[in-house]
Amino acid sequence: MKEHKGYAKLILFGEHFVVYGIPAIGMALKDLYTTCTLHPSDIWEIQGVNQSEVVIPALQSILVKLNLIGPYKAVFNSNIPVSAGLGSGAAICVSFTRALSYHHFLKLTDKRINELAHEGEKFFHGNPSGIDNTLSTFGGVLEFTKGKPFTSLEIEPLPLVIACTGEKGSTKQMVANVKNLKEKNPEKFQEWTKEMEEIIESARIAFEQHNLKTIGKLMDKNQELLYNIGVSTLELELLIEIAKDKGALGAKLTGAGGGGCIVALAKDKESANTIIQAIKQKGFQAFYSEQAL
Ligand code: MEV
Repeated sequence: MKEHKGYAKLILFGEHFVVYGIPAIGMALKDLYTTCTLHPSDIWEIQGVNQSEVVIPALQSILVKLNLIGPYKAVFNSNIPVSAGLGSGAAICVSFTRALSYHHFLKLTDKRINELAHEGEKFFHGNPSGIDNTLSTFGGVLEFTKGKPFTSLEIEPLPLVIACTGEKGSTKQMVANVKNLKEKNPEKFQEWTKEMEEIIESARIAFEQHNLKTIGKLMDKNQELLYNIGVSTLELELLIEIAKDKGALGAKLTGAGGGGCIVALAKDKESANTIIQAIKQKGFQAFYSEQAL
């Protein structure tokens, strides 16, 4: 039976601020994805993912939008770490919607798959901007603004290292914490938002010029903002420090924070390997991944 993919995602710039209308830049990851196959069944059966208290309502919300009822036996296969900021929830929703389209001959377009996956995502994250499902559906490197059409960025492959703390972060909680902070300190938050906007503008140019040094510096600046809004952790900071010590041009947490992963930009693939080895020696998971098309 045909498999249906939803990719993991990596936010390079702009997480959290994207919830408030600032553009963000992210990419889908080629080697990390979830597949789903559907089988007729008299009862709901979910295999391969273990957040069933969220997964079933999320999948049901997609079915309702398509006037379908179920139940199904849905078999997922995923190598995306869960609660790690890499979009595992969105990948589940995208792969399930793709599988439904195939199973029922619906011929859903990617645009429709993305809209439906966004509905499902709401069960994972409360109020998602839509960046995760968009990257998971379309792949590539995208500039995304909430509620607007996205732009594809044609960039050369980046030597990136992803390293995971192993701490599970709750996107819902982190987004709520940032909302609280924004309400308590609107002026300061406005200042940081302005800085984030400037980072995105500079990043756009740096990507066009494939200027790795500048991209790295901008990642560091973005990390400062993420630290200021309270979503970094000691372990994330430790991974960033190791990566920088081993020559990373820049490093930041990726996704919602409060745990999860960092992304570090290396000078080249060899330097990326040095960073990966150093992080692994400290007992953390680290890997190299290129963007999905
Ligand atoms: C989560 O991957 C990214 C956040 O910006 C939340 C969202 O955009 O939905 C933290």
